[in-house]
Amino acid sequence: LMAATAVAALSATAGTALADCDDGEIVIKFSHVTNTDKHPKGIAASLLQERVNEEMDGSACMEVYPNSTLYNDDQVLEAMLQGDVQMAAPSLSKFEQFTKVFRIYDLPFMFKNIEAVDSFQASEAGQEMLESMARRGLLGLGYWHNGMKQMSANQPLLEPSDAEGLKFRVQNSEVLKAQMQAMGASPQPMAFSEVYGALQTGVVDGQENTWSNIYGQKFFEVQDGITETNHGIIDYLVVVGTDWWDGLDDGVREQLATIVQEVTETRNAESYNVNQEAKQAIIDAGGEVRQLDADQRQAWVDTMKPVWEQFSGDVGQENIDAAQLINQ
Ligand code: LMR
Repeated sequence: LMAATAVAALSATAGTALADCDDGEIVIKFSHVTNTDKHPKGIAASLLQERVNEEMDGSACMEVYPNSTLYNDDQVLEAMLQGDVQMAAPSLSKFEQFTKVFRIYDLPFMFKNIEAVDSFQASEAGQEMLESMARRGLLGLGYWHNGMKQMSANQPLLEPSDAEGLKFRVQNSEVLKAQMQAMGASPQPMAFSEVYGALQTGVVDGQENTWSNIYGQKFFEVQDGITETNHGIIDYLVVVGTDWWDGLDDGVREQLATIVQEVTETRNAESYNVNQEAKQAIIDAGGEVRQLDADQRQAWVDTMKPVWEQFSGDVGQENIDAAQLINQ
């Protein structure tokens, strides 16, 4: 009885219903940082857990740790290389230490919507990027979509000059730092789990993120409003350690790869709708959402787009050209 209580207390602390793994099953710990409700990644990870545990019962068992309960994104890739976690889906902005090819995804106004991102990823260049970190011990199994980023601050943002002198939390990405500097703002890299507190206490003034993240982390509660800029994207790499992946039995690896691919297709098709639901939930909760008129939007484009030049060498002009062709 004592032991059962202790186990229940432990899983309550972890904040997630952990799967009941049996002896002999390969345990797949999946660590991520977002919430699970009205969130494209949260929903996809839960579905993946459900399917693995049903269909691979006896051979593999997945435990999903959401909400940074196991690792934040700065720690998770190192933990993966150490073998302490087997799967994760950090945003493409979080691979700075491993590769520069993903910098294309952070360039402002590079992709007009998430379908354009999907098409680019399906191209040969996008598929090759899945293996760009093989030498560093990481392998991408696929891309999961979140959506378009919006801007928020503790004062209204309509012109890019409204952001001048403000401190903005960014993911730890050189492109995102340069983007904020182009607006005359000061970029502050910070873990996702710390952003709400930093906005609340005024350590930073603003942030950029998708509707689902702004809703899931309740950023709208501690910001003046959110401006619908759609200036960039957040997308994820479903990533595993190459050694771990190659060490799986062929049958296990193939079944797992198939489930990951099916979950990817099913949930990516819904990512736009999930973000729209989150946007509506923000409005329903009293959050202020501001629209830009055509001139204001053009001013954001003119301010941010020059950042491309700084990074065209890292991401390849041919990739920029390919992305622009898809946008047309
Ligand atoms: C962020 O750090 O803002 C995002 O990458 C969080 C996430 O996983 O969507």
